[in-house]
Amino acid sequence: MEVIISKTAEEASQLAGALVNNAVRNNPSLVLGLATGSTPLSLYKEMVKACRAGLDYSRVRTFNLDEYYGISPEHPQSYRKFMNDHLFSKLNIDLKNTHVPDGPAHCATYEAAIKAAGGIDIQVLGIGSDGHIGFNEPTSSLASRTRLVTLTQQTVSDNARFFATADQVPRYALSMGVGTILESKKCIMLCFGANKAKAVKGAIEGGMSQFNPASALQMHPDTVVFLDEAAAADLQLKDYYRWAAANQPL
Ligand code: GLP
Repeated sequence: MEVIISKTAEEASQLAGALVNNAVRNNPSLVLGLATGSTPLSLYKEMVKACRAGLDYSRVRTFNLDEYYGISPEHPQSYRKFMNDHLFSKLNIDLKNTHVPDGPAHCATYEAAIKAAGGIDIQVLGIGSDGHIGFNEPTSSLASRTRLVTLTQQTVSDNARFFATADQVPRYALSMGVGTILESKKCIMLCFGANKAKAVKGAIEGGMSQFNPASALQMHPDTVVFLDEAAAADLQLKDYYRWAAANQPL
């Protein structure tokens, strides 16, 4: 993994945004894997800014990592609605080219659609405070595929802030598997804030384990992790990551 530590989440998002926008510039029909949550919002702003400045997103195809199960796409907290509101409605993207998992019966079709698109070129990831990527909770098989999953109590309570009452938070979700994510050509994982420090430490410096599904990225040949100082706080080799970033081999 390449680990890039920035002073702020804002700076990290600008770097990640430049990476995504350049990739779209080089390949206008890029296939992007996208994530929800508060973390990628600043990255999405960078994409919108570039699009408003003339970058063409009309041929870009997208596949979202996950979706709650048990609420409709029109629900204010559905990930389809989140993506439409925060990104798709602000880009000149064709909504027909945007995909969000939409039911347990369609998991195999979702995987087939990713394959038919030629695979994911860049997968954007956040991390859960328990180390989940997408909704691959601890104990998810590192070979898992898109499927219906049960959320942990930790995730349900982390996400309760978006719902009026705790019992409205869905207990289930559809998620690309860890195996699906690992097939992406490039992964960029953004982790910000002190409440992610422990999961980040496990993902980057812990042994690879289904107890921290993000640690499976250690097996991925091209993953860049963008951190702010708070999320990097527990890393043992923090100084080395900074040094390595400043002294890239040619
Ligand atoms: C949800 C999503 C994840 C996301 C995580 C972190 O559980 N399924 O893909 O990474 O939240 O969210 P946040 O960025 O708001 O901390």
